[in-house]
Amino acid sequence: MSLLEVTGLQVSFNTADGVVRAVRGVSFAVDRGRTLGIVGESGSGKSVTAQTLMRLTPDATIRGTALFEGADLLTADGRAMRAIRGAEIAMIFQDPLSSLHPLYKVGWQIEEMIRAHEPAAGRAQARKRAIEMLGLVGIPQPASRVDDYPHQFSGGMRQRAMIAMALALNPKLIIADEPTTALDATVQAQILDLMRRLQGEFDTALIMITHDLGVIADMADEVLVMYGGKPAERAGRRTLYYRHHHPYTKGLLESVPSAAGEGGRLKPIPGQPPSLINLPTGCVFHPRCPYVMDRCRTDEPPLDPVAGDDPAHLSACWLPRTAAGRGEEAERIRAAAVAEGRFGAQGAAGAEGAAGDGRDGGPPGRAGGASGDGGGR
Ligand SMILES: Nc1ncnc2c1ncn2[C@@H]1O[C@H](COP(=O)(O)OP(=O)(O)OP(=O)(O)O)[C@@H](O)[C@H]1O
Ligand code: SF4
Ligand SMILES: [Mg+2]
Repeated sequence: MSLLEVTGLQVSFNTADGVVRAVRGVSFAVDRGRTLGIVGESGSGKSVTAQTLMRLTPDATIRGTALFEGADLLTADGRAMRAIRGAEIAMIFQDPLSSLHPLYKVGWQIEEMIRAHEPAAGRAQARKRAIEMLGLVGIPQPASRVDDYPHQFSGGMRQRAMIAMALALNPKLIIADEPTTALDATVQAQILDLMRRLQGEFDTALIMITHDLGVIADMADEVLVMYGGKPAERAGRRTLYYRHHHPYTKGLLESVPSAAGEGGRLKPIPGQPPSLINLPTGCVFHPRCPYVMDRCRTDEPPLDPVAGDDPAHLSACWLPRTAAGRGEEAERIRAAAVAEGRFGAQGAAGAEGAAGDGRDGGPPGRAGGASGDGGGR
């Protein structure tokens, strides 16, 4: 059994405008020392998934199970959850100020968390640990910075302090929700590097949430691509980058800034994410999909295995699942699309890419980083 096993998670909110179906059947598992990347555009249900696991969505209607070491997080009582949060599962948020209290010294906040979970630890011992943790995440002169207030730290330092706090109790699982989005590229790379190093050292399981596939290109063992509250595709990292099946994954890869390369053009996915109150019929991606077929508008594709050498490769798309089938289908769709005048030469070329074997659909800018490592750690 995996450290965390989420099965059939559904989360909805009753609002004045109607029921927001934020998460509509998500399943995944994470083991110790492994990293799961959860990727998707804004509003795809990534944060709601994470917050629900931590029981931070009190106003939601929740279905499914989330077994952490065999016990269901979704039905655990308040006391059990307080013991789990921080000590067993820690969460790092996009905005460190949402977890760091502005009126208390950074070190004091780390000390308090240690003492809340380990009553036997004295104040001096907790302070020593807080200083150690700040040093570990690369805060210079931690013995004096421990008495700084959050506003005296830079954005990157606050994010490091959050990581220090998340690691202070040596949790088995860390959920990082866009931990570097607000930071500039250099600091972002340093923080990701740090997280990867510490994860290896402590054998922590990591769920890394991001809207940018580039962020997890070097990091994730497995990737779950979410669209409209549901998984569009799930696969090992290399499969996802080089042999993806779902047109939405292809679109996300083409919108990765580094994929455009120097002087290259970024291709955002045209159209808007769906309304979670009035979902489209059939495939939820069909209004934006360049490969849309008649059945896509009426029948919802199940998340099923894709033929290939990755048994864990699943995709929710009606396009053929074998490379040969995808090639033929791509040609048929391309010809139909051009005949109908739906696409110019560029769109037609794109159609071949996604429905072919996907090798040409990889992230050109990340090829060096994502290949050459022999596939996973
Ligand atoms: N408490 C709530 N009440 C009503 N709707 C909510 C609530 N929390 C989230 N939602 C809605 O659920 C949907 C999914 O939100 P979520 O925050 O999970 O998106 P996300 O994938 O994390 O996006 P982003 O990349 O912008 O962070 C959104 O439409 C959001 O407005
Ligand atoms: S099922 Fe159809 S509309 Fe949906 S992603 Fe696949 S081809 Fe596109
Ligand atoms: Mg979010």
